[in-house]
Amino acid sequence: MKTYIVGNWKLNFTVGEASIYLHKLLKALPSYRDIQVAVAPPLTALQPLSLQVDRHKLKLCAQNAFYRDYGAYTGEVSFNQLRGLIDYSLVGHSERRYIFHEDDKTVAKKVAAAIRNHITPILCIGETESERAFGETADVIRDQLIGGLSEVADDNIHKVIIAYEPVWAISSAKSAKLATPDEVAEVVRLIRATLADTYGAKATADIPVLFGGSVSPSNAGGYLTVPGVDGLLVGNASLILNEFIDIINIAKRVRS
Ligand code: 13P
Repeated sequence: MKTYIVGNWKLNFTVGEASIYLHKLLKALPSYRDIQVAVAPPLTALQPLSLQVDRHKLKLCAQNAFYRDYGAYTGEVSFNQLRGLIDYSLVGHSERRYIFHEDDKTVAKKVAAAIRNHITPILCIGETESERAFGETADVIRDQLIGGLSEVADDNIHKVIIAYEPVWAISSAKSAKLATPDEVAEVVRLIRATLADTYGAKATADIPVLFGGSVSPSNAGGYLTVPGVDGLLVGNASLILNEFIDIINIAKRVRS
């Protein structure tokens, strides 16, 4: 199984800045056969970066797209329009859920639209601080997972990637706390068990599960050794070239 290191740039970098960063990243990036590196630039940069990127070294990922392929949806961009530019797309990131009010139904349509357009969805799920405090973590994870996958045909289930990002551990959270490897392990076990119960153990054994939330060079190794974790979704640290490269090298060390 490959290890995935995905950088989510969120609302950072102009097209010019993104292009310069990618140029430096491609130059510095070691080519590891078993590590799949991807970055999720802002939408405006996807098309120019798709011409610049060396896809053997690095794949492009969208941060979001709309679930209809075309039509009267002012301001939206569809997976259909991104087809060919990207290999992956985040879907249901907590910032989409809580700032832009995306619910599981919308997320499910986006997951299906990504697959329909030959883009691998990275379905992001995770509980908030108060949900955890009230003991609702398992319910939230199950609901977001089953809800988000509800429009995927059973024989397509192997085409998804899951990212567990506890909302309280994301660096932008007001009082962000680091998740402990044990906390991550418990939820990743639940994710794998839910997938196996719903779609069968065989069909879901190879679905990658990533972790995200304040990942940095100092904690990446710890998260990557959590059983069942196949990679990392990195926000802030992916904006700093040296830190992102460090995380990729740590992944290589931990995994070999
Ligand atoms: P940080 O790594 O900045 O906490 O962001 C995590 C994230 O939201 C990645 O999608």
